[in-house]
Amino acid sequence: MMILHVLIFALFVVSSSADKCADCLANGKHWCVTVGQCGFSPCLTTITKALNCPSLPDKAHAYNDTFARTKIIVTNAASYTMTPQKCFDSQMSTMKVSKIINVNCDRYGPEAKCFSFTAVDTVQKVLLITFRGTIGNTQLTEEILDFFHGKKQFFDSGNVFEYFYDAFLFQWNGGMQQDLRKLKYQYPDYELWVTGHSMGGAIASIAASYVVKIGLFNADNIKLITLGQPRTGDYEYAKWHDATFKYSFRVVHHRDIAAHIPPMEGQDELFHHRTEVWYNNNMTIGQPYELCAEADGLYCSNQQVDLSQEDHYYYYGIHFVDWGLAGCPNI
Ligand SMILES: *[C@@H]1O[C@H](CO)[C@@H](O)[C@H](O)[C@H]1NC(C)=O
Ligand SMILES: *[C@@H]1O[C@H](CO)[C@@H](O)[C@H](O)[C@H]1NC(C)=O
Repeated sequence: MMILHVLIFALFVVSSSADKCADCLANGKHWCVTVGQCGFSPCLTTITKALNCPSLPDKAHAYNDTFARTKIIVTNAASYTMTPQKCFDSQMSTMKVSKIINVNCDRYGPEAKCFSFTAVDTVQKVLLITFRGTIGNTQLTEEILDFFHGKKQFFDSGNVFEYFYDAFLFQWNGGMQQDLRKLKYQYPDYELWVTGHSMGGAIASIAASYVVKIGLFNADNIKLITLGQPRTGDYEYAKWHDATFKYSFRVVHHRDIAAHIPPMEGQDELFHHRTEVWYNNNMTIGQPYELCAEADGLYCSNQQVDLSQEDHYYYYGIHFVDWGLAGCPNI
């Protein structure tokens, strides 16, 4: 009973301070998180962007560590092999790969392959699309993000990083669209899971948004979970995303560098959408995580200065790329 009271009180504080914060910013002042007051100064931690006003997803759309740890990690591990069905046969046998897409997705540099697949599970009543991250160190980090600046308009909802949008469209037009439309026609009421790791996480964000924009899926029927997703779009895109998706989580492992590129400031002015789930630990079973109340503030993983490449490949306590390559054996 005591716990319930504390919980209700905590929820009340979060939601009412979110309203106050939004009102405060609308009046052209800053919100001081440290003391929970408008315009208070000097202030240790201030919020100046409305998307950072503290709020958390509602209970009906809560993050589920077990779900991510047992299902989302399997599908991401599967995406690093040319035969993703092997991982499902081993760990989630009701999931059946429908279509594999493996196309060149770089129209500037040397050929780079993007890999993704669609799948269907008639027991869990789920359609699934998954986007692989970059392989090797060349495709992601510095190369793409330093050289291919440029944003592309995303319908009427801001801009997304052009390289990611193009990579999505190559895959969408390279077989995903046709197959997903067919699956949607066959299984109109199924939920859609969208996931990806690294650059695949950014593409997953765009894919989930795209299928809503074209009216193929209702956002309420989509679960979007990304691992180590780089910044994908600008503030306007994040704003639309947060207003549209009830179930959207960006999982960040400890000091994973990918969640911090491209930088927020600078010529692209990218901004993360909600909701970051930050594991400030090795992510083994039972380790705690933080649901981050700000979209992209000086909060959760953004407080880290010492970033890591290695943390990018370990999620939920395993090197899941190697695990996928091995066919996802029981461990
Ligand atoms: C969390 O996910 C697991 C695995 O999918 C599921 O069995 C469990 O019921 C879920 N828990 C909640 C509270 O939804
Ligand atoms: C993960 O962290 C926990 C808590 O610090 C520790 O007990 C455990 O040994 C660590 N596991 C691995 C595989 O590093």
